[in-house]
Amino acid sequence: MLHKPKVEQSAKNIALFPLAPGRLAGIFILINRAKGVLSMTGEKKIDDCLSIRNGHLFMEECDTVELAREYGSPVFLVSEDQLRRNIRRYRQSFESGWTDGPVKVMPAAKASWSHAIQKIIAEEGCGCDIYSPGELAVALDSGFDPQFISVNGVPKDDEHIENAIIQGARITLDGIEEIDVVERVADKLNRIATVRLRIRPTISGFRKFTHFNPTGPVATDIAAMSYKGGMMYTQAIEIGKRILKMKNVELVGFHQHHGRHHPSTKYWVEQMKSYAEEMGHVCKALGGYQPREISIGGGFAGRRDPFNAETHYTEPYELLALHGLSILLNVFGPRVRYGVINFILNLMMEYVPNRNLAPTIEEYAGACTSALKEYLPQNGISAKGLMLQMEPGRSLHGDTAIHLTTVKNAKPMDKPLTWNKYIVDTTQFWFTGGIYEHHLHDYVIANRADEKKIEKADIVGRSCYGDRLLPFVRVPKNLRVGDVLALLDVGAYQEVSMSNFNAMPRPATYLVKGSSVHLIRKSETLDDVFRRDVMPRHLQGAAKP
Ligand SMILES: Cc1ncc(COP(=O)(O)O)c(C=O)c1O
Repeated sequence: MLHKPKVEQSAKNIALFPLAPGRLAGIFILINRAKGVLSMTGEKKIDDCLSIRNGHLFMEECDTVELAREYGSPVFLVSEDQLRRNIRRYRQSFESGWTDGPVKVMPAAKASWSHAIQKIIAEEGCGCDIYSPGELAVALDSGFDPQFISVNGVPKDDEHIENAIIQGARITLDGIEEIDVVERVADKLNRIATVRLRIRPTISGFRKFTHFNPTGPVATDIAAMSYKGGMMYTQAIEIGKRILKMKNVELVGFHQHHGRHHPSTKYWVEQMKSYAEEMGHVCKALGGYQPREISIGGGFAGRRDPFNAETHYTEPYELLALHGLSILLNVFGPRVRYGVINFILNLMMEYVPNRNLAPTIEEYAGACTSALKEYLPQNGISAKGLMLQMEPGRSLHGDTAIHLTTVKNAKPMDKPLTWNKYIVDTTQFWFTGGIYEHHLHDYVIANRADEKKIEKADIVGRSCYGDRLLPFVRVPKNLRVGDVLALLDVGAYQEVSMSNFNAMPRPATYLVKGSSVHLIRKSETLDDVFRRDVMPRHLQGAAKP
């Protein structure tokens, strides 16, 4: 056997071993999910904002099939109510665990930075984690209180630092080079710059394989060290000592962010433990310094967890074995060779979106707050009055949005291999943030949402690349031109990472609120696509052969 099933089954593992225990667990979860969400009216709830009514996928009170017809396809749809619900859940669950001081939810703008989305987040009383001058501009336009804008990122240009100080935003220091600039600008402006130290604690207590490294099995504590964000606590001590002597720079606390290495709550308990220990070292070295605020960053998985959840380390070896076999089979002639390969491909290759739900926001908040309450005092840091901040990205935005795309071509293929393809009017190049993180989004055929998915096929995008958006997945039998496919959980990192490959204009985004729909980002025209092109003088005029 090429692959040993694990208890924590990944989507691909389940697919490759049809009767493995994980698959049975997946089926069990599905049955229970279906049981739990089927209402008396026949409406099937997928989650808070998505439901199936009379075979059609609805977002809030809108039929998504009608929306695709009316507003065009492809298109991104974001549920305003879902975003507000998620923010409130975050705040309430952290507030119920963190009772000694205030809580501030400061969502990561990078996950979804359009003005309308940021305005909703600001209206909900949140702060904002920003990475770049562009994100700072959106945050300021949206009305966030600058003291709750965390200016993250490395490197930061001097101009960006100066603007952040002028605006009164928090500078989250991530490198010794930054402090000189901060001091110089603060002195020049004669203003107090408020800063905190971003550290990168070693999560020595969590050694399970990270999901962040698709090239091979690496323990999370080691993988986390390869990330550029954050400093060693010894460097933080050095900077901290200098800040305490500065006239116009005030150290208000600490920051950390590791990313989505693992969805389990154990990962968070260990993160908080090492964070508390390393903050403790810094505080001690600074003569008993007490922070006013600490941020735990983001990195918690979305519920259906489409990112990284499919990491499957033995796949390259399986494919290599298949390749070896395909060479050996040459001697039997094409009929036998393709026959055997077809059998094996059909048996092995099936991608199933992740069925292992990540813990809930409440479970995550409970794990973080109880660990911090235990480990902060042990390391000499008082929780009394300490503000706890968090910067959710994927777990806050993911399930707020879907992407609708329409089937344009059907390419059945049953000889010499069975390999059906349905070509849709979107592309992987509009999901590049996800490709980097090995995503596999769950999906629904929006106009045939009640039909069983029985046929195996590739859903292929429109770019000239292979563009296998959903490779080897199950769909209803004979998808037709005009059928509308909805990719779920695309609210984080996807819309903001679209590219113009093949000179394709990027699609629009609409905000759905109950039964009303509002444009929040226009689709591009060809003029938009070519706007940055400049023709040098010697190339102007008619082309000369
Ligand atoms: C500093 C910081 N905070 C928060 C986030 C959000 O992370 P996630 O979307 O995994 O929650 C990121 C993402 O890279 C980040 O760099």
